[in-house]
Amino acid sequence: MNQGKQILVVEDEIITAKVIQKKLISLGYNVPVTVASGEEAIKKVKENNPDLVLMDINLETKMDGIEAASIIRSFSNIPVIYLTTHSDDKTLERAKITEPYAYMVKPFEEKGLQINLDVIFFKHKIERINHENEALIQASKTKSEFMMAVTHELRTPLNAIIGFSEILKSKNNGTLNETQEKYVERIHSSGNNLLGIINNILDLSSAEAGKIALSREKISLGVLFNDVIDIVKESTISKKIQIKTEIDPGLQPIEADKNRVKQVIYNILNNSIKFSNPEGIISMTAKKEGDMAQVTISDRGIGIKEEDLRKLFNDFEQIDKGASRHYGGLGLGLVISKKLVDLHGGKIGVKSKYGEGTTITFSLPITAKS
Ligand SMILES: Nc1ncnc2c1ncn2[C@@H]1O[C@H](COP(=O)(O)OP(=O)(O)OP(=O)(O)O)[C@@H](O)[C@H]1O
Ligand SMILES: [Mg+2]
Repeated sequence: MNQGKQILVVEDEIITAKVIQKKLISLGYNVPVTVASGEEAIKKVKENNPDLVLMDINLETKMDGIEAASIIRSFSNIPVIYLTTHSDDKTLERAKITEPYAYMVKPFEEKGLQINLDVIFFKHKIERINHENEALIQASKTKSEFMMAVTHELRTPLNAIIGFSEILKSKNNGTLNETQEKYVERIHSSGNNLLGIINNILDLSSAEAGKIALSREKISLGVLFNDVIDIVKESTISKKIQIKTEIDPGLQPIEADKNRVKQVIYNILNNSIKFSNPEGIISMTAKKEGDMAQVTISDRGIGIKEEDLRKLFNDFEQIDKGASRHYGGLGLGLVISKKLVDLHGGKIGVKSKYGEGTTITFSLPITAKS
């Protein structure tokens, strides 16, 4: 594990320096040089970029170990360990400010040195991973913000397309012939489909950037069920799908964001319709479970294979690419739904049997915990 790790020893007592170098080499470290002054230490760190610096605190040279360490810290994050024999409180206070990884009191045992170095390299590795994670989180946030800006820009012209095609459809500015009417209808429905996709991408990006704020009010799940059933009416009629609802009379209105909960119910119900065979039956229930309201939407559609269930809440994950292309969709509906349910402090889960049907259940707190 020590193989290849290079250590720079900064020690002005030549004998001590050589003893330390020998000990480190015997432990498997690479110690090409030892240096005797702060200035040389800085130069060698720049030249060799070692993995660690063992720095004598009390160098009897112009620049002492603490000053050299603080300069090294200003341009590199190589860990520095101070070596001391005995130091007065003032020196130790100065040393602390430079945030060394550790102090080691000379002379030290080989075993102690080995353990200290192992711990320090491990600590440094964890710090580096944390640092890289932070950079990744930042990059992902920047990406989400960029996506938010792009989708926002796309929505403006699209709203114009939808709006103007609606005006043409209304025939307020003159009649259209049959072909024109068909084309305008196409423009309108394609525009709406595209808007749905853009809104989903915008929602996902906003959720990832932590930019979705809930606006809570008292809402009745029964009313929301009816609102959503109304939105999907056309597709249920054309597929001859029957929707049964059941609302627990003991379930009081819940404190939640009306549009967001509606969006979750819509995403789940829309899937159930999409993945049901014609003349299928879908059931929607809402009941009280302790201090939560539990919504369950079940269908007897194509179902999901067990090995695919865990993919369900992953971004852009379409379980069966061929089938998804057939059914349409980007694979965002459930991911967004999960994020919205999480934001409310709720939970969402799925049960499904391939070829038999799917049940999605989510629960939301009846009273919001702020
Ligand atoms: N009720 C269901 N029955 C069968 N498969 C389902 C059901 N709900 C979801 N799935 C599977 O899970 C996948 C992901 O669903 P999700 O709603 O996230 O995406 P989508 O419907 O493909 O696209 P989008 O919702 O973005 O339009 C679906 O593509 C489908 O394979
Ligand atoms: Mg969907």
